[in-house]
Amino acid sequence: MADEPFDADGAIEPDDGEAAGAGADVDEQDLLTEHVIRAVGVRKVYELGGEKVHALRGVDLTVRRGEYVSIMGPSGSGKSTLFNMIGGLDKPDAGQVFVDEVDIAALDPYELAWLRCHKIGYIFQTFNLIPVSSALENVMLPMLFGGTSEADAQDRAAELLEKVELGGRLLHKPSQLSGGQQQRVAVARALANNPAIILADEPTGNLDLRTGEDIIGILEQLKDDFHVTIISATHDHKMLAASDRVVYLVDGAIEDIKSRDQLQITVGEIRGGSK
Ligand SMILES: Nc1ncnc2c1ncn2[C@@H]1O[C@H](COP(=O)(O)OP(=O)(O)OP(=O)(O)O)[C@@H](O)[C@H]1O
Ligand SMILES: [Mg+2]
Repeated sequence: MADEPFDADGAIEPDDGEAAGAGADVDEQDLLTEHVIRAVGVRKVYELGGEKVHALRGVDLTVRRGEYVSIMGPSGSGKSTLFNMIGGLDKPDAGQVFVDEVDIAALDPYELAWLRCHKIGYIFQTFNLIPVSSALENVMLPMLFGGTSEADAQDRAAELLEKVELGGRLLHKPSQLSGGQQQRVAVARALANNPAIILADEPTGNLDLRTGEDIIGILEQLKDDFHVTIISATHDHKMLAASDRVVYLVDGAIEDIKSRDQLQITVGEIRGGSK
């Protein structure tokens, strides 16, 4: 692993720093520990049949390490688009995304692949598991991509599945699992390479209330136990209770950001109301 462009903690080495503003008198370590994600003026325009859709109209968002941020907004407001930009799955038309203060547009394909494999765990509304593979194999896959040996990947995948209470379902294929169980496999898979960031796009969207709460509980636990940064798009008001901040996206722009303190009353109502 000597050719990794990243340091031993999995933090990306900032480049010479011009884009990140990491000038000589900025404490690099502070940057690495404080702001894990910084989106600056991110714009995305899709063109379809000659028509332009402004999916993101200049989004600025900074997420601190260990924070749990929920992104709320109506269907079509740009949540998934923002995720694709933050997660390096697509490129903005304008603006920049920094992960650990590195401009991800400046990464070469190898570095970007490394970032996606090791730094970020993805969870999708539709689980996106490989249908012909067992739960165990699905969780092993990112580790095998990342260069972990088959034996080690198998041990860790079994451990992770145990953690999401699927120790008894290792050899089940996705079609032999319930929706909630499939999403728990996806959570275990997202954790495979010890990511610093979990991007969850409507992780409870296809789950019933109780199962959704279980998934939220697991995410909260991850945040507490491993200081993982969680950014989750959601329509689900239950998610607010777990969030440090809620970002409201409307028509491709941030309309409001509320901190946990400002949410306190609402959270109480939601918690009380869901029991
Ligand atoms: N590949 C694409 N080509 C053209 N337009 C797109 C594409 N992807 C998204 N859009 C448009 O961009 C806008 C934002 O879409 P996005 O998927 O980010 O919304 P969302 O907030 O995630 O919605 P939902 O809550 O329904 O998942 C929408 O108007 C959508 O139609
Ligand atoms: Mg979406």
